[in-house]
Amino acid sequence: MVDKTHRVRFEPVGVEMDVSEGETVLDAAFRQGISVMHGCKEGQCSSCKSVLMEGDVELLKYSTFALPDYERDTNHILLCRTLAYSDITVELLNYDEDLMRRAIAVKVFGATLTAIMRLTHDIRLLEITLDAPLRFWAGQYVDLTIPEAGITRSFSMANAPSEQINLRFIIKRYPQGAFSALLDGGLQVGQRLTVKGPYGTCFRREERSGPLLLIGGGSGMSPLWSILHDHIESGEERVVRLFYGARTGKDLFYLDEFAAISAKLPDFRFVPALSDAGPDEDWNGESGLIHDVVQRTLRTEKLQGEIDAYSCGPPPMIDAVLPVLQIAGVEPDHIYFDKFTPAAR
Ligand SMILES: Cc1cc2nc3c(=O)[nH]c(=O)nc-3n(C[C@H](O)[C@H](O)[C@H](O)COP(=O)(O)OP(=O)(O)OC[C@H]3O[C@@H](n4cnc5c(N)ncnc54)[C@H](O)[C@@H]3O)c2cc1C
Ligand code: FES
Repeated sequence: MVDKTHRVRFEPVGVEMDVSEGETVLDAAFRQGISVMHGCKEGQCSSCKSVLMEGDVELLKYSTFALPDYERDTNHILLCRTLAYSDITVELLNYDEDLMRRAIAVKVFGATLTAIMRLTHDIRLLEITLDAPLRFWAGQYVDLTIPEAGITRSFSMANAPSEQINLRFIIKRYPQGAFSALLDGGLQVGQRLTVKGPYGTCFRREERSGPLLLIGGGSGMSPLWSILHDHIESGEERVVRLFYGARTGKDLFYLDEFAAISAKLPDFRFVPALSDAGPDEDWNGESGLIHDVVQRTLRTEKLQGEIDAYSCGPPPMIDAVLPVLQIAGVEPDHIYFDKFTPAAR
């Protein structure tokens, strides 16, 4: 069979690329090292939403939360679900010069599982060693596949990008989770894995001087930990606040590491908040949902300078945090986030 390809033109940036029939426009962009906005890559999160200006396309199955019917009727498409049947022109609704400039072509790597450690009752630290170095930006993620089980899930690197061979991931364990439940006994050291990446647009923007806000919950700590350590390694001096939402004290981890960072890093504050602290819990930190705590803190602290905010974790948490940041005056193009959407079924 002849491999049919078509041209894709992205406006207003004027970038062009090929797409093969049967390949999504987003996969074609990854293959050719062209970075456009994306998140879940599975039609769940809407980050890749764009407008079809010209050409014939078909959309694979997607969530109508990501692309409601009224938007589909006005030629909106999800690049991660779009197959092209002619040359097409697409208007990118969100694009970022930094993103285009710093694109790293997606590649496939072999890897070996080297350790699984318990951070809390339901959070594990997974360590793997790659067969070849992976270049990535702090905050990005990869797709990990367990070949025998045929399961692929996205996980954000927790280590700084200065380490390109030994990667770490902070992973929340779901009892029924096809991938994460295997972290308690189902996967052994020595297990071979396939790694594809890097993906993601929520990576650390360098050489900025304003305050850096890192906001997460649950395993959302993974990319934030990478961004924080990359910032520390860079030697840049900025005000840094890391807000972390958990239910109770037993969901908190890395407290000693945060204490050590606070002692070393000028103007850094770790702000954990518990939403469900029990009456007999000895807790004198912040209480409530993390977006409320961010709102209260920004009102009282009155941080000076242009804020960069990075938010990672469960989609409802991010949906609650985004308006808080906007109301606090954070510029929309300085707000970066990754929604940890569950894999499509
Ligand atoms: C861009 C991106 C980055 C990600 N980074 C990370 C990361 O660094 N660390 C990490 O732990 N996860 C991360 N995830 C989520 C991860 O990819 C998986 O979706 C998650 O680990 C669950 O997979 P599973 O196979 O264990 O569960 P699945 O088999 O997919 O789901 C089984 C059951 O588990 C429960 N469940 C699964 N996911 C959720 C959820 N999000 N909320 C509530 N219940 C759920 C539900 O009951 C579901 O029916 C990321 C996701 C994306 C899109
Ligand atoms: S909907 Fe396309 S990347 Fe999430």
